[in-house]
Amino acid sequence: MIYVKKLFRYISPYTRYGVLNIIFNLLYVLFSLFSISVLMPVMGILFKTQESVFVKPIYHGIGSASEYATKSLNYYITMQMEQHGPMQALAIISVAGAVMFLFKNLFRFLAVYELSFLRTGIIKDLRDELHHKVINLHTGFFSNQRKGDIMARITTDINEIQGTFLNSIEQLIREPFMIVSTLTLMIYLSPELTVFVFVLLPVSGFLISSIGSSLKKKSAVAQKLNGYILSLVEEHINGIRVIKAFTVEKNIEEKFENTTTEYRTAMISVLNRNAMASPISEFLGSLVIFTIVGYGGYLVLGGESDLKPQEFFVYIGLFYQILNPAKALTSAYYNMLKGSASAERIFEILETKNEITDKDNAKEIKLFEEDIKLNNITFKYEENENYVVKDVSFKVSKGKSVALVGQSGSGKTTIANLIPRFYDTTGGEILIDGVNIKDVSKKSLRSLIGIVTQESILFNDSISSNLTLGVDNVSEEEIIKAAKIANAHEFITNLPNGYDTNIGDGGNKLSGGQKQRLSIARAILNNPPILILDEATSALDTESEKLVQQALGNLMENRTSIIIAHRLSTIKNADSIIVMKQGEILEQGNHENLLNKKGEYYKLIQMQSFE
Ligand SMILES: Nc1ncnc2c1ncn2[C@@H]1O[C@H](COP(=O)(O)OP(=O)(O)OP(=O)(O)O)[C@@H](O)[C@H]1O
Ligand SMILES: [Mg+2]
Repeated sequence: MIYVKKLFRYISPYTRYGVLNIIFNLLYVLFSLFSISVLMPVMGILFKTQESVFVKPIYHGIGSASEYATKSLNYYITMQMEQHGPMQALAIISVAGAVMFLFKNLFRFLAVYELSFLRTGIIKDLRDELHHKVINLHTGFFSNQRKGDIMARITTDINEIQGTFLNSIEQLIREPFMIVSTLTLMIYLSPELTVFVFVLLPVSGFLISSIGSSLKKKSAVAQKLNGYILSLVEEHINGIRVIKAFTVEKNIEEKFENTTTEYRTAMISVLNRNAMASPISEFLGSLVIFTIVGYGGYLVLGGESDLKPQEFFVYIGLFYQILNPAKALTSAYYNMLKGSASAERIFEILETKNEITDKDNAKEIKLFEEDIKLNNITFKYEENENYVVKDVSFKVSKGKSVALVGQSGSGKTTIANLIPRFYDTTGGEILIDGVNIKDVSKKSLRSLIGIVTQESILFNDSISSNLTLGVDNVSEEEIIKAAKIANAHEFITNLPNGYDTNIGDGGNKLSGGQKQRLSIARAILNNPPILILDEATSALDTESEKLVQQALGNLMENRTSIIIAHRLSTIKNADSIIVMKQGEILEQGNHENLLNKKGEYYKLIQMQSFE
């Protein structure tokens, strides 16, 4: 139940609604009791056992308030019966009863009405916070997570909280009032009979909680499987072309169906256990009712107690009234257990430590003036894995370009990811204008750096929205200018809606080269002083290749750039070339020097036989 406490924090902005809900619920309970109690004089009149009070009672203070109230009511009824006969008295009482029921239900509605603001507010806040957390978490977090599972947490797990915790709040607030006040009235009417109710409590408590704990376990299994299902769907849709090309539809479907079968089995257990809540409490309640009817009847008939028949009837009525809240409370308890599995999954993310955060006194850097230095950098992705970058040092001066070349897997992309702090170095330090990047705010560091990655990452939106990502207030002329520099203007204007054309999921309505040129135009619009370029290895046709190449050349002009290069032309023009192998720097120099050396670089160039 720790999650109840954690969720409680989210109630505070909506306290107002919570308080109103409690007030209306109190009124609801009050009128429920009134409306049942109205039966007492009715039966008193019918059975002719109604106590007659001919002297108007006098109020003696709060201590004897209930006696005063009963006496006053009886006095009023006696007067009515005396003056107009029992029929009239019955009619008045019946009308009063109906009015009580009207108020009871009015307050019940108002209570639920107020609570809707609180419930929906919590859901929105929780979902927003979860999304915010996910967006801001360090990049490394996502390597170990299934995308679909994160999606499941933000969608279905939050819905589960809505369906369980928040739907139960109502019951958790209202029913205890109802139970306590009804019990009080029952004790007042007949302490002997109420003993049976108390005998029942520990027995049912034990039964209910033993089923509940297995419900919680099953529910955790089900939610986990639900996350897995979503991640399978996500993977299958992303990989639809590969699935078709390898004709593995059957295998994929089998895997999916096995998971949904497992989910179904888990859900059957969850639903069945959840469904046991009401029947169990109702059955236990009925046991007590029949005991009470028997024993109470014995008391009334035997005349061994001063319990009057009408009181006995009302007592039974009250007991009925207590049964429903007891049932509801048990269901609420079960729902909370069911929902706590989802709450756990949500808080697991909310409480994940962000490994890459700003220091309290983080510097804001506005300009890039001198150089970027990497001093003895080492890095590994996981605690117990091997180093991927080993003791790498180099410097990029302002206005110069450095090319990283080397075999696949030699750590080039990794180094590129360390500079904008997508990951923190394991050892060594990276300095920008002499300041350690860990002392700089992430936002100011990253706004100095433009990144064009191996695969073009575009959003399902219009071309202009994709181009203006990260920049405010750009004119149409500037967008067109950037697109022209990136060799993208021509193909964009040939699209049916020009700059307003939607490019589909991940830009899949465009060709590879077009996507790359859009990413380049986007980087040009952002106009960062430092550029990190992870050249795509994918082969483009010569025409497209030339266009992209030109665009890159334009982009790099007047900028400091770190390029992971595969194209000879890019490499050749770089001011400095760093040759990497298995995380280490093998050679460093310009194109001519390295060629003359006839070392690793020479071999690479020969092997790749560029032109
Ligand atoms: N997120 C990750 N978690 C764990 N290991 C990783 C991760 N990303 C890369 N690696 C490992 O780090 C090593 C270096 O990878 P990196 O992507 O830096 O290579 P690269 O030089 O860019 O290769 P390529 O030329 O193929 O792009 C590889 O052995 C790879 O398996
Ligand atoms: Mg790479």
